[in-house]
Amino acid sequence: GAQAPRDALGRRLTDLRISVTDRCNFRCVYCMPKAVFDKHYRFLPHAALLTFEEIERLARIFAGLGVDKIRLTGGEPLLRKHLDRLVEKLAALHRPDGGQLDLTLTTNGSLLARHAQRLRDAGLGRVTVSLDALDNALFARMNDVDFPVADVLRGIEAAQQAGLPVKVNMVVKRGVNDAEIVPMARYFHGSGVVLRFIEFMDVGESNGWRLDDVVSADEIVSRVDAALPLQAAERDRPSDTASRWRYLDGGGEIGVVASVTQAFCGDCSRARLSTEGRLFTCLFAGQGTDLRALLRSDAADADERLAAAVAHVWGRRTDQYSQLRSEASPRPAHARKRVEMSYIGG
Ligand code: GTP
Ligand code: 5AD
Ligand code: SF4
Ligand code: SF4
Repeated sequence: GAQAPRDALGRRLTDLRISVTDRCNFRCVYCMPKAVFDKHYRFLPHAALLTFEEIERLARIFAGLGVDKIRLTGGEPLLRKHLDRLVEKLAALHRPDGGQLDLTLTTNGSLLARHAQRLRDAGLGRVTVSLDALDNALFARMNDVDFPVADVLRGIEAAQQAGLPVKVNMVVKRGVNDAEIVPMARYFHGSGVVLRFIEFMDVGESNGWRLDDVVSADEIVSRVDAALPLQAAERDRPSDTASRWRYLDGGGEIGVVASVTQAFCGDCSRARLSTEGRLFTCLFAGQGTDLRALLRSDAADADERLAAAVAHVWGRRTDQYSQLRSEASPRPAHARKRVEMSYIGG
């Protein structure tokens, strides 16, 4: 079989993020603003989407190259019909050393109460739920479809009851929801949920990002620490996105994803597979590499050729967008047109 590839900067390929739909039932202002994602926006037609069988084939190939962590994303992944059937297929895959994959899902939580148990039964390992505020009016303004906080909280509880470890992602935008930092910390303190604060990123081309909108990781940590004292903890894996902080009183931990003020490209081991089967080697990539044509070809050795193609693309990888951005703030001079996050998968 193919060797576990290293990229041009020596980084391994261990994480795969798979977008299973480019659609979402929310219109978060920082991700799918209504002005762009309106009724004229052309989402992918069904035939363009990878089937579950195709995703499973690719996931097996990636696992053979060293991937041991798979995340399903979107858009909103739970909008994809019968997602639990895909989870079941992926849960049956193994690492080359026989170990289990870390199989997880990032969701807005709106449909989680309905699906949590079935996902758990299908073999999902854990789940990450996005929630940007506890204040209902503010949350409604951020998701821009009047979705109530209580329904997301019910989804989180259902996931916990089903035995799924839960993380919550809060994207922080200055002047919009930064007053929710401490209330969110208090709410999830002691609950077993790991709350992660995320610096607002300049991803895609439509969210109107400005550096002034970013609340830095340092500021977030000091605000939480003033209310609930914290102590730094080690990352599980060097390639993890979030820095970790433990509550001194034993109330659990938080994380901070500081891609703007403390870029973490140095150990980035993440590849992304778009809804229609394009491989992206960076969240900020301008274009990907189509894998679908080969996947749908009738070549007898298609799987070997796919593995070789992935290894080749990874081997040439030099991406370190966030790192370069912070060195050339606010944005690298060579910045290309970037794909939207709902397409490439968060
Ligand atoms: P864990 O597996 O629990 O560590 O989750 P994760 O942080 O890998 O994934 P999650 O989907 O929860 O993402 C958290 C935040 O980090 C989101 O805002 C992502 O868009 C962002 N993120 C994830 N991967 C990358 C990356 O490679 N680069 C950058 N810049 N941001 C990323
Ligand atoms: N900056 C930071 N995080 C973002 N997300 C979506 N758009 C952005 C952005 N511009 C988050 C979502 C979800 C995760 C996958 O990415 O809220 O939690
Ligand atoms: Fe949907 Fe998530 Fe984007 Fe919000 S951040 S619009 S929930 S994909
Ligand atoms: Fe990885 Fe690109 Fe994110 Fe850097 S900006 S951590 S290279 S995905």
